[in-house]
Amino acid sequence: MSKTFDRHRRLRSHAKLRDMVRETQLNVTDLMYPVFATHDAGRDPITSMPGVDHLGLDELRREVLEVAELGIPSIMIFGIPTVKDEISSEAYAEEGIVQQAIRAVKSEVPDLLVATDVCLCQYNPAGHCGLVHGDEIVNDASLELIAATALSHVVAGADIVAPSDMMDGRIAAIRQKLDDAGHVHTPILSYAVKYASAFYGPFREAADSAPAFGDRRTYQMDPANIREALREARSDIAEGADMLMVKPALAYMDVIRALKEEFDAPLAAYNVSGEYAMVKAAAQNGWIDERAVVMEMMTGLKRAGADILITYFAKDIARYLG
Ligand code: PBG
Repeated sequence: MSKTFDRHRRLRSHAKLRDMVRETQLNVTDLMYPVFATHDAGRDPITSMPGVDHLGLDELRREVLEVAELGIPSIMIFGIPTVKDEISSEAYAEEGIVQQAIRAVKSEVPDLLVATDVCLCQYNPAGHCGLVHGDEIVNDASLELIAATALSHVVAGADIVAPSDMMDGRIAAIRQKLDDAGHVHTPILSYAVKYASAFYGPFREAADSAPAFGDRRTYQMDPANIREALREARSDIAEGADMLMVKPALAYMDVIRALKEEFDAPLAAYNVSGEYAMVKAAAQNGWIDERAVVMEMMTGLKRAGADILITYFAKDIARYLG
């Protein structure tokens, strides 16, 4: 009898055959694990992100040993400062929380790659990512502070700086500042395509960085736009970004794909706090199989085009990949 239809099931008939023809592989080397550093010693759970804690420097040291043992190559440090002022002083202070955290991590695990989130929103009372004049988030005057923050992280030992503020021109300002100080080899991972998203809710509670007035829509992107994402990424590459990021991840997989096709820089996807919280909540209720859902999401992000996965699930994934 002649063939009248295709037998797609042939290649699915055996587990080893499925392994052989699998198009996307998840590796522990894809992972970057975000951590929240605080001045207070000890460990304090973040309610809306079960399994994620605020870490004092003592606990941060313990945490990064575990991360390194699991084979996770990199972390992203966020800081919870004690001081908030109009000029976000602690963001670029030598004894700021991020600067101290970098030194603590580097002295504990010297070859763990340390990336830092470069932003002002945790460090000023307005909770905005740039300088605030009246009710305006001013662009150009913010660049010097953002660049100074990035440089202070590199001086403290950071391997990668990741600006998340979405001010125009920050990549150029940071590159110039780093180069002038001789740090020509420090890469910039740009939060190039960062949407004004409701998925950051749990993070803002964790980082105490919710805006005191207004919202972030004059600098973060409109979730409806994808051509604008290409313009943002193009500017950042032109200004000197070494790697690009799309954030959040799951509702923006078309954007990940579009950037992958358009640019040849390594691409990161940030699976953000709200995406994490949703999975955790459903799993705690017994409504989904957490492990299977997490692996399916991460495989999906890689299939969409992400090279680097920034996720609060990183330690779990490393164990699953075991
Ligand atoms: C700081 C910053 C935010 C996140 C990363 N860096 C919050 C925001 O922009 O409001 C969100 C991370 C997450 O939700 O996991 N600008």
